[in-house]
Amino acid sequence: MVQRYAGGVRSSYRARMAQKADNHVMQGKRILLGVTGGIAAYKSADLVRRLVEHGAQVQVVMTAAAREFVTPTTFQALSGRAVRTDLWDPAAEAAMGHIELARWAELVLVAPASADFLARLAHGLADDLLTTLCLATAAPIAVAPAMNQLMWSNAATRSNVDLLTSRGMHLIGPAVGDQACGEYGPGRLLEPMEIVSQIAPLLAPAGPLVGRRVLLTAGPTRECIDPVRFVSNRSSGKMGFAMAESMRAAGADVVLISGPVFLPTPPGVRRIDVESAEQMYAAVQRELPGTAIFIGTAAVADYRPVACAPQKIKKNSETLALELTRTTDILLQVSAGAQRPFMVGFAAETNAVEHYALAKLLAKNLDLIAANEVGHAKAFDSDDNSLLVLWRGGRLELPVSSKRELARALTGVIIEQYLAQLAARDRDSAAQHDSAELATREGARAS
Ligand code: C5P
Repeated sequence: MVQRYAGGVRSSYRARMAQKADNHVMQGKRILLGVTGGIAAYKSADLVRRLVEHGAQVQVVMTAAAREFVTPTTFQALSGRAVRTDLWDPAAEAAMGHIELARWAELVLVAPASADFLARLAHGLADDLLTTLCLATAAPIAVAPAMNQLMWSNAATRSNVDLLTSRGMHLIGPAVGDQACGEYGPGRLLEPMEIVSQIAPLLAPAGPLVGRRVLLTAGPTRECIDPVRFVSNRSSGKMGFAMAESMRAAGADVVLISGPVFLPTPPGVRRIDVESAEQMYAAVQRELPGTAIFIGTAAVADYRPVACAPQKIKKNSETLALELTRTTDILLQVSAGAQRPFMVGFAAETNAVEHYALAKLLAKNLDLIAANEVGHAKAFDSDDNSLLVLWRGGRLELPVSSKRELARALTGVIIEQYLAQLAARDRDSAAQHDSAELATREGARAS
């Protein structure tokens, strides 16, 4: 049923941001930090400090090469735990055996990860304590590489990294910049705070959406004209990816169905790549069961060529007419379906933003819509944006800021509205239950 929009209520943006800041994802988490041999190992000392500051328990494991750069004493002082270095250390093994240590870890983070370590990990070697722990753990593993830029670009390293990421290992960095060896390029260890923020979503998160599934679409779609050409749009996917990241930070199991974009997958998010609107819809249908919140940020092509030419179309005539046909409106279909989750849509408008967004909220029977003005250099492909958020009974203007900031604020509004809807449903079903019970009792008394 399409409900009416009442308009008016302004939500407390600051209160939501404060709630977000209180979310200590790392408190008490057990992080096994592997340090391998490289000059960047000195930065790991600061990384330990940052992790401890965030409330994590950190157990450092150093390779033999790492000890050529920094002493275990440094890490012991910062982590408050004896550093593990050797698979064959009987005293350490007696205190906590390596399999126990592998089980203890909620996350294995290797920073810096050298080219040699990545190669050994990719090929399943277990010839020292750290590689053995990586093989024996069920925890997620994140690697933050640091090496000379040519070593990073070398085909052997590239293929090792591809193999590791295809097995679900999380890659953090590296950054591009000046290197200790005097060269410039990719291979710098990310700054400790950046590493901390990238691993946070990998830890079983705490948050209001724990145990709930969020399904998002993002990016543009490509509609085939012939084997080398397509119809598409300017969407970069940045807003959708930022939404996936902030939903994950709120504790959700996030599935991100993305059209072709050039963005890394947010840590802890499961990503499915598609090209066309048809493929996106098929993936959404597959992933929909069990979804609590659906967020359509994708700029799905509204039309596709009636046919995709099997061969490249030759330029034989002065004009070429392309016959287009409508694609499926994914948001509308999900909203109309039997398993309707809490529905969030986006509206990109060039004018009369509120008017059109409101019409879309009602026509597609959404719970909430986030609208923005698009045009030349506005919204699409830019890092900043502003949003007008509408739902039945309220509106909120989110002023210009980075898409990440906006995503965090929008996530707050979505959670608030989603939880309010759940609470209202619970009240309704309790009231229904009460009146049914009353009717049964009165029926029994009358008979
Ligand atoms: O109708 P319009 O395209 O402006 O609606 C935008 C919203 O609908 C976005 O949330 C977008 O992801 C979704 N949409 C969709 N499938 C389409 C077209 C739009 O899911 N074919």
